[in-house]
Amino acid sequence: MSTCKLPAANSHPGVDFRAGIERLRKEKNAVILAHYYQAAEIQDLADFIGDSLDLSRKAAATDAEMIVFCGVRFMGEVAKILSPEKKVVIPDMEAGCSLEEACPADKLAQFKKEHPDHLVVTYINSSVEVKALSDYIVTSSSALDILAAIPQDRPILFAPDRHLGSWVKRQTGRDMTLWPGSCIVHEDFSEEGLLELKRKLPQAPVAAHPECPFSILRHADHVGSTTSIIEFVRTRPEKEFIIATEKHIFHQMAKENPDKIFHAAPGAMDGDCKCAECPFMALNTLEKVWLALRDEKPEIVIAEDLRKQALKPLQRMLDITAAKAAQSAA
Ligand code: 13P
Ligand code: SF4
Repeated sequence: MSTCKLPAANSHPGVDFRAGIERLRKEKNAVILAHYYQAAEIQDLADFIGDSLDLSRKAAATDAEMIVFCGVRFMGEVAKILSPEKKVVIPDMEAGCSLEEACPADKLAQFKKEHPDHLVVTYINSSVEVKALSDYIVTSSSALDILAAIPQDRPILFAPDRHLGSWVKRQTGRDMTLWPGSCIVHEDFSEEGLLELKRKLPQAPVAAHPECPFSILRHADHVGSTTSIIEFVRTRPEKEFIIATEKHIFHQMAKENPDKIFHAAPGAMDGDCKCAECPFMALNTLEKVWLALRDEKPEIVIAEDLRKQALKPLQRMLDITAAKAAQSAA
């Protein structure tokens, strides 16, 4: 899929989508969850915005009858795995992820057959079928805690993000085989462009998502999940920042820090398209959120056996991170 996008067509001219969403969410006892990479107008109407771990916890804990998940398909699947009794709808079933595409379940099953001693540690950006074949799920914010909890004597396959995997490998020194997947958005950032921008803005700290290649991460002052990047810019005294992640994160950062300036790390396609924009996340529009609420579709449906299998490694992650949070709070 191209990283350039055309404006989405509105097939319901004259409809006030915001008002419609307000009415329907109450009528249907629905909660709207949104990722930080969603368009500003979607973030602004969500009940909760977060990174993948925050959103998983929220999906598990909500008492709403319906979850409208504004993100990409695997995020809706996670909500359904954790809350099978709830109806989970997403604005667009085509909203996939290049990481998910890089790791088909049959190829992972083949790897497991050839390497029966390996523990499979899988990034949450993966299909429900791949999760069902995994031993542990991680997010960018939980990966180091999960690795610390995994038996030291076992070799690990880390799938499907080789850049996140390589960052985790460097941080932990663990023996890890990396699946050759990557995020098309984060892989696009240019080291040369970043160094040029750093020369112009020597005071500006760099915050990067660990889906970026090491050529970017090695110049970063902070590496972490979307939530941690937002926290970083909130708590640092500097007034200008260079950000290497999907551009819609700027919306919350600008809202919270009106006195600070955020610069996008340059992409390799500068001068052509260079969007730092996820084309999958960009498929969601206010109109589609309204339609999803109104028609209760497209709905995420997962066979119960598959759901139960995928729940095991996901629940392991939630249990490990909850124990870690309780430990830190004590
Ligand atoms: P986090 O929000 O968990 O950091 O994930 C980023 C991402 O790429 C989601 O697709
Ligand atoms: Fe997948 Fe990258 Fe888009 Fe996140 S930003 S959904 S990792 S393609």
